[in-house]
Amino acid sequence: MRTALITGSAGFIGSFVCERLLRDGYRVIGLDAMTDYYEVSLKQRRLERLLQSEHFRAIEDYVETPGLLMELFASEKPDVVVHLAAQAGVRYSIENPRSYLQSNIVGTFELLEAARAHPPKHMLLASTSSAFGANTKMPYREIDKADHQMSFYAATKKATENMAHSYAHLFGLPVTMFRFFTVYGPWGRPDMALFKFTKAILEGRPIDVYNYGDMKRDFTYIEDLVQAIRLLIDVPPVRLGEDETVPAGDSLSPVAPWRVVNIGNSNAVQLAQFIDAIEAATGRKAERNLMPMQAGDVPATWADAQLLKTLTGYEPKTDVGNGVAKFVDWYREYYSV
Ligand SMILES: NC(=O)c1ccc[n+]([C@@H]2O[C@H](COP(=O)([O-])OP(=O)(O)OC[C@H]3O[C@@H](n4cnc5c(N)ncnc54)[C@H](O)[C@@H]3O)[C@@H](O)[C@H]2O)c1
Repeated sequence: MRTALITGSAGFIGSFVCERLLRDGYRVIGLDAMTDYYEVSLKQRRLERLLQSEHFRAIEDYVETPGLLMELFASEKPDVVVHLAAQAGVRYSIENPRSYLQSNIVGTFELLEAARAHPPKHMLLASTSSAFGANTKMPYREIDKADHQMSFYAATKKATENMAHSYAHLFGLPVTMFRFFTVYGPWGRPDMALFKFTKAILEGRPIDVYNYGDMKRDFTYIEDLVQAIRLLIDVPPVRLGEDETVPAGDSLSPVAPWRVVNIGNSNAVQLAQFIDAIEAATGRKAERNLMPMQAGDVPATWADAQLLKTLTGYEPKTDVGNGVAKFVDWYREYYSV
């Protein structure tokens, strides 16, 4: 039986990845600190579902705890590591940057050190579309330069890409960095727009719509994202031979078994259209409070997902109408509204 270590296993994306790997016959070790950045009860409920499998082992601790991952890698020898634990959120990184430094930078360092000592066959780490920062060339391609992050959150994530590249180069660790584009769906995050908007609309409160609604996001439905992750697990990057060159359009490093892959829907949707989908799913009109752009945010994200397709044959395709409806169904049931 193959063993997978998933960090951030009680998180939104992590819980789905664990569930999928358990279904596919993996033994799964889930590490999560159950931080109180948002309601811990939601993390507990996600975890309870995973604990129904006898092949799931949960560990509650911080990734940055010195020695913890080293011991875990030594005892469990994971074949695959999917690193999703992080302090997420663009806006909170203005308020509390230190938690990003700890969880994202120090935590990823501890993970890389453990992998150096006990190398898995493939490590896959979550970065973000925010790494593209101030880029205005759309859609975003992995091979475009991405040097101008707009928030400390994005800066820490971009730093983890570079940290992992150096370990991939020096120690031959196969590393895939994901750049996720606004992931949404059932069991989603309470700090994200879809959750906040749905809650406010169902409670009859106005919603804050930033940049006066002139925002675009490439919204990625959770099940599409998990399918992409699942397929990428089986495509570890390989170090190029001396006479080989990087294929056109591939972000593969010329000096390391390392690449970065966008996971997005290849479709930039206007925020107004996204809110229309929530109105349709809830059957209620939103009262829109038009606000200026928030610090640290970018007006648009749009993924070029060709590399994902080339590597796996897969293209995410759930549209916001269907995806939002599934979220709203879940929300109504979960909160009994
Ligand atoms: N959801 C998105 O749209 C999105 C977009 C881009 C990138 N990402 C990245 O994907 C990953 C998963 O995101 P998510 O949406 O599931 O977020 P999430 O907050 O739901 O999940 C992260 C989990 O990590 C745990 N955690 C936080 N700090 C930790 C630490 N120091 N040690 C151990 N556990 C810790 C939290 O308790 C949480 O359960 C994150 O790395 C995030 O930055 C998410």
